[in-house]
Amino acid sequence: MHPYAGKRVAVVMGGLSAEREVSLGTGAGVLAALLERGWDAVAIDWREGTSLARLLDDAGAQVVWNALHGTWGEDGAVQGLTSCARIPCTGSGILASALAMDKVISKRIFESNGLATPRWSLLPHDGPADGSDAAARLADRPLPCVVKPANEGSSVGVSIVDAPADLAAAVAAARRFHGPVIVEDYIAGTEVFVGILNGRVLGSVEVRPTTKFYDYDAKYKRSDTQYLIPPQLPAATVAQIEALALAAYHALGCSGHARPDVRVTTAGEPFILEVNTLPGMTKTSLLPKIAKHAGMDYPTLCEEILATATSL
Ligand SMILES: Nc1ncnc2c1ncn2[C@@H]1O[C@H](COP(=O)(O)OP(=O)(O)O)[C@@H](O)[C@H]1O
Ligand SMILES: [Mg+2]
Repeated sequence: MHPYAGKRVAVVMGGLSAEREVSLGTGAGVLAALLERGWDAVAIDWREGTSLARLLDDAGAQVVWNALHGTWGEDGAVQGLTSCARIPCTGSGILASALAMDKVISKRIFESNGLATPRWSLLPHDGPADGSDAAARLADRPLPCVVKPANEGSSVGVSIVDAPADLAAAVAAARRFHGPVIVEDYIAGTEVFVGILNGRVLGSVEVRPTTKFYDYDAKYKRSDTQYLIPPQLPAATVAQIEALALAAYHALGCSGHARPDVRVTTAGEPFILEVNTLPGMTKTSLLPKIAKHAGMDYPTLCEEILATATSL
């Protein structure tokens, strides 16, 4: 029997982050799936100027299916609110959510657990807005490198830099966002996302964008990105990628569903980039695609994720 059978499920979506539209897509998909399975499910569209605590109260929420993405949703803030309200919520808890959202802290945790992550340097947020400190600070850094803001998602503010002359502009672009700037070794090769549910690997997908890297347009606007399930890589390499992804999930203390992001060199050596704790969950998102390949249909995945809800 489902642990939340008979409970009223609030699917919380929208939210206040830049990923509001993506979240509305996730929320609509999940709500439809739960209703199709006969759940007493209601949508909560949390928008600027409304109180999420009051919305949950008014809806009589007994368990939250968290369909938010980004800041104030994926970063532990909503997990704190539901925890105080004693309402179980899907996905990772307060601490793991906050750790996974912060790429600096995540990378330190990966390194202290012996997990391979690209070599990196850190630039402060409060340096010159035009990035004119980059050349001196990054003089020893091998190129190409990847410059990215520490606390964003959806590839916003991310640049791949091939020539020293382009470093300043890349740092300036990343500094437009909140928090410090990460400069990483560029891992030439391929990219694999791993689907995890409740501490178990469901499978993985190789992502082949036609753009230079998996940027915002390739993620949300273009339709020419190829998604290969399973990845077209040797089975032993896929096993190594999935083991690294699961170790990263555990190192951060994640629970429920997650979708780590791994780069693999042409020689087959995997590096963990990050763990996404609230991945896209529309019917055609990557985690549902991975689950489908593993024999789990979309409504079942939504119900299985609901079953992992916890109140910390
Ligand atoms: N070290 C790297 N080597 C190669 N490509 C990278 C590297 N870091 C990031 N990228 C590219 O940039 C994309 C976004 O970077 P990521 O660290 O996953 O941040 P986000 O949270 O924005 O998804 C990745 O999906 C990948 O295509
Ligand atoms: Mg990513």
